[in-house]
Amino acid sequence: MPGTTLVTITDHVIDSGFSTATPVSDLRAARGFWRAVAGTALPHQPRGPTLTAVLRPLRDGDLPAVRDLVVAAGMFTAEETPFLDDVLGPLTRTPGPKGVDGPTCLVDDPGDPSGPVPLTAVVYYRPEEATDRVWDLTMIAVHPTEQGRGSGLALVRQVEADLSGRGARLLAVRTSGTGQYASTRAFYDRCGYDRVAHVPDWWTEGDDLVLFTRRLAPRDE
Ligand SMILES: CC(C)(COP(=O)(O)OP(=O)(O)OC[C@H]1O[C@@H](n2cnc3c(N)ncnc32)[C@H](O)[C@@H]1OP(=O)(O)O)[C@@H](O)C(=O)NCCC(=O)NCCS
Repeated sequence: MPGTTLVTITDHVIDSGFSTATPVSDLRAARGFWRAVAGTALPHQPRGPTLTAVLRPLRDGDLPAVRDLVVAAGMFTAEETPFLDDVLGPLTRTPGPKGVDGPTCLVDDPGDPSGPVPLTAVVYYRPEEATDRVWDLTMIAVHPTEQGRGSGLALVRQVEADLSGRGARLLAVRTSGTGQYASTRAFYDRCGYDRVAHVPDWWTEGDDLVLFTRRLAPRDE
């Protein structure tokens, strides 16, 4: 897995997967511009071709920003986030994935040397225990100011490309069947994931498991 991956989020990239050879200086300039605009309460818009993200593995010092991001995205309350230190902390103490089978967390890199800038995207995925090359997309969040512009889809494609390179066979996503998660289910539909299982009362009474999967390699014949 490369140390740093550049992903330019454009219509072309979304259609084709990801990745361009845009110079880092251009990416950072675009990123700085976008942050300046986003910081002025830009109204929600359809995805634009100018949004640019530089993804890199989680590193020491990122955890407070990750906690802020997942709270802003509505995934957890601030009181719920300390568990993330246990889950993600080991990844920051051992830079990069632990070999090709290691859990991985990527964040967008503000690329701004002038000071800390909030993270706007995080994705965490890990191998599924006791399976043959199945991975679990455990967490994905995009800051509300940047949702709906293609970032989430680009993140998913990034994960798929990384895992394909590592020989993964299947990527699975578990979500909830409640109305609160209707938009999340629509997102995975749009990403091309198959709804393969629906388990009533999985998370708790009245809260069903909806399992999505996507093949990353052809079925063995
Ligand atoms: C889910 C999430 C990561 C999606 O990121 P995003 O950047 O907003 O998504 P994108 O802009 O890349 O959307 C990709 C596609 O999904 C579709 N989509 C996204 N949200 C949708 C919704 N609520 N209803 C229908 N389609 C939706 C988009 O329309 C887009 O399709 P298009 O290209 O045809 O327009 C983001 O909304 C988020 O962080 N949500 C809160 C946290 C969460 O629920 N995480 C997942 C559970 S772990």
